[in-house]
Amino acid sequence: MLKFPETIEIIEVCPRDGFQNIKTPIPTAIKIEVIDKLVDCGFRWIEATSFVHPKAIPQMADAAEVLQIVKEKHGGRVGFIALAPNLYGAQRAIEAGADAITYVVSASEKHNLENTRQTVEQSLAAFTEVCKIKGNRKVRFALATAFDCPFAGPMNPEQVIKLVEAGLAAGADEVMLADTIGTATPLQMENLLKPLAVKYPNISFILHIHDTQGMGLANIVTAMNLGITRFESAAFGLGGCPFAPGAAGNIATEDLVNMMHKMGIKTGLDYDKIIRVARYIEDKLGIAPVGHMARLASCAL
Ligand code: COA
Ligand code: ZN
Repeated sequence: MLKFPETIEIIEVCPRDGFQNIKTPIPTAIKIEVIDKLVDCGFRWIEATSFVHPKAIPQMADAAEVLQIVKEKHGGRVGFIALAPNLYGAQRAIEAGADAITYVVSASEKHNLENTRQTVEQSLAAFTEVCKIKGNRKVRFALATAFDCPFAGPMNPEQVIKLVEAGLAAGADEVMLADTIGTATPLQMENLLKPLAVKYPNISFILHIHDTQGMGLANIVTAMNLGITRFESAAFGLGGCPFAPGAAGNIATEDLVNMMHKMGIKTGLDYDKIIRVARYIEDKLGIAPVGHMARLASCAL
C-alpha cells in the first residue's frame, strides 16, 4: 500500500537554477517580475539567485541587486535563498541579506572540482566556516550529484550517506539531495532515501529533481512514499547545471503541483497563477515550454 503525506512543501528554484542555464542575459527587471509573480503563487521559500563568479555564470552577476530588491518588496513574508559554491560566495550572500544559504558540494569528486574548483574535503572545510558565520539564517548542505555524476556514473549510497553525516557534523540546518543531471531512477531513490530515513528519522530532507529522462515525477512519488515531503522544482521546467554536461531542466513546478492537487495533497500554491508565471516566462524569454502542463496551457491559448 503506497503512503502519501497530506501536505508537501515546494521550494521554487527557477530564478536560480532555471535562469543560470540561459545564456542570453535576462534583464534584472524581468527576474524581479518573475519573483514577484512567484511570491503571489504562495511559495514560502524561493531560491532567488546565486553568489558565484560572474565569469563562471554571467547570468548571476546581478545577484546582490536581485536579492536586495526582492527582500525590500517581500521580506518577512517569503524567505529568499541564495546558492553559494564556496566561503566567499556565502559571505557575499550574507552581506546581501539572504534568508538561507544553499551551500553546494558534489558527492562526486570530479563534479565538485568542475563546479566549485575545490576538492570535496576543501568544500567541507569551507562549509564548517560558513556554519560559523551563518548567524540566524538557515544553512542547507546541498549534495549535488547525490545519485548520478556526469563524469563518474552512479554514486555509491554509502558514500553519499557519509557526506550527509559530514555536512550535519559541520553544522548544517538542513540537507538537500540533488539529482543534478536528472538520470536517477526510482530504484536509486529508494537505495539512498530508505537508509537515510532509518539513520535520520527526524531530519526532513529536501529533494531537488531534474527531469532529463522523464523520471522526475516517478522519483517524487517514490520519495514521498519513503517519507520525503519537501521538493525543489522550477516554474516552466527551466534549469540545469552548466558544469554538468547533459543536465536538462528541473521538474516543472506546474507539473508537480498539478499531480499533487489531483492526488489531494496540499501544496498551499495557486496552480493557475503558476501557469501564468510559465506564460510570462514563455513570452518574455521566447522559450518553448518544456513541462507538460505549460505545453497544454500554451496550446489552449
Ligand atoms: N563570487 C564571486 N567571486 C568569487 C567567488 C564567488 N563566490 N569565489 C571566488 N571569487 C573570486 C575571488 O575573489 C578571486 O577574485 P580575484 O581574481 O579578483 O582575486 C577569483 O574569484 C579567484 O578565486 P578562487 O577562489 O580561485 O575561485 P575560482 O576561480 O576557483 O572560482 C568558483 C571558483 C566556485 C567561484 C567559480 O568556479 C564559480 O563561480 N563557479 C560557478 C558554480 C556554479 O554556479 N554552478 C552551478 C550551480 S551548482
Ligand atoms: Zn539543479
